[in-house]
Amino acid sequence: MAQPYYITTPIYYVNDAPHIGHAYTTLACDVLARFKRMDGYRVHFLTGTDEHGQKVEKAAEVAGVDPQTFVDRVSQNFRDLAEKMNFSHDDFIRTTEERHTKACQALWSKLVETGDIYLGAYAGWYAVRDEAFYTVGELTDGPNGEKLAPTGAPVEWVEEPSYFFRLSAWGDRLLGYYDANPDCIGPASRRNEVMSFVKGGLQDLSVSRTSFKWGVPVPNDPDHIMYVWLDALTNYATAVGFPDMESDDFTTFWPCNLHMVGKDIVRFHAVYWPAFLMAAGIAPPTRVYAHGWWTNEGQKISKSLGNVIKPDDLVEQYGLDQVRFFLLREVPFGNDGDFAHASMISRMNHELANDYGNLVQRSLSMVSKNCSGAVPEPGAFTDEDRALLEPAERLVETMRPLMDRQAFHEALEAIWVVIRAANGYVDHQAPWALRKTDEPRMRTVLYVLAETIRHLGLATLPFMPETSDKILDQLAVPVENRSFASAGKCGALQPGTALPKPQGVFPRFVEEAA
Ligand code: MSP
Repeated sequence: MAQPYYITTPIYYVNDAPHIGHAYTTLACDVLARFKRMDGYRVHFLTGTDEHGQKVEKAAEVAGVDPQTFVDRVSQNFRDLAEKMNFSHDDFIRTTEERHTKACQALWSKLVETGDIYLGAYAGWYAVRDEAFYTVGELTDGPNGEKLAPTGAPVEWVEEPSYFFRLSAWGDRLLGYYDANPDCIGPASRRNEVMSFVKGGLQDLSVSRTSFKWGVPVPNDPDHIMYVWLDALTNYATAVGFPDMESDDFTTFWPCNLHMVGKDIVRFHAVYWPAFLMAAGIAPPTRVYAHGWWTNEGQKISKSLGNVIKPDDLVEQYGLDQVRFFLLREVPFGNDGDFAHASMISRMNHELANDYGNLVQRSLSMVSKNCSGAVPEPGAFTDEDRALLEPAERLVETMRPLMDRQAFHEALEAIWVVIRAANGYVDHQAPWALRKTDEPRMRTVLYVLAETIRHLGLATLPFMPETSDKILDQLAVPVENRSFASAGKCGALQPGTALPKPQGVFPRFVEEAA
């Protein structure tokens, strides 16, 4: 039986059009999901949209349509983005679906039964933009004397009857869970941040609202709707069959292996969510990983600054796989990063066109011209051949632990070490010269290069699926051999296999056109 791997993106607020930050979170999950599938796992990759709450209700009002019409329209933009970015999710959940209402109400009822939810009254600060409550100590004064949340979002005073989740009772048990599971929050800086927040003492959390209607009704008290974060977080359970905890999907995929999130929402995922789950007697997630934020040419990305980067525009300008590569290569995953067109062009020209593209093109054209368009028959391998082939064969093994700690940039660097070594090997072996002096040796060298490129094509497949498939097509690698199980000798290129005519894979970008 294949080992299960359940991976989720946050579900996206539908008050806005998708931008580069949304594409980034899902891209990271897509690459991991593809890597795990190629590595033999049974993957369940979930994404979707967060459609309830005051923010969405207000956005619908501004658009002049009822909330349901509004969310139907905007949710579709996120599906379109997923298609455009070649994301391979297995399910797309919407929190306005019937299956989700059922799951939220079942979780709520469990928490009422265990005594972890009680009725009270809320009086405090709320930021609609963050859909979050803040204590007075967390607020700062804005330029016009208004109060601001730490995120910069304006807050408003809220006073209304509310149900509370007894979060204050879960501090020690949360700390116990973090201690017993050292990998449950990454990177380490976020883990420390979460732990000190919990150590600082937790207050009970308001989990229902009465001053607006757009949400999941509280069972047996329909004047209340559930706090949008309790509703939203539950999506991860809904999608694998909750409340049916005996279902095949739930028993297979729970607890979730990885919730990928941005650093802004780590507290919701690493504090509130495990507390809700543990209180309901359900296992908390295995890991939450919080990545950093992108700025645009040094500036915070925001609608009001008018500098939102639309993924569609980038893909149009530079090509899909180029964008997928750049986003995960440019910045150590987990850190903040800055998007600059000059860096995008530089990476495309140096690492894609010059390093990878050139290696593939010059090697395969030599095979095509000098080996009758078929995989050449190699002779005995020399030490130099083995020095290139062996790390190429071990690439997946090298990448596995890096991917498991979401170090995408390091996994890409490991691939590029082989690419650079292969280019050095071509220069040094000079197969074009061997053609005149030692044809059998030339065939060995070209075979070693073709085999190395096969390993590279497999390794880059999760990152750049379309282009890597094109590279593997040029080596006539059968589709069923495009998994890591075939990366070893059993999938090795067979001498004599006819190859299609080689084509360039990574065009150089003309800088003036930027
Ligand atoms: N709806 C909540 C999540 C609920 S999950 C149960 C939400 N949605 S969001 O649409 O505002 O943000 C979704 C993701 O986009 C977050 O992971 C966030 O960090 C990410 N990004 C939004 N802007 C970003 C950048 N500028 N850079 C990188 N990622 C950022 O929060």
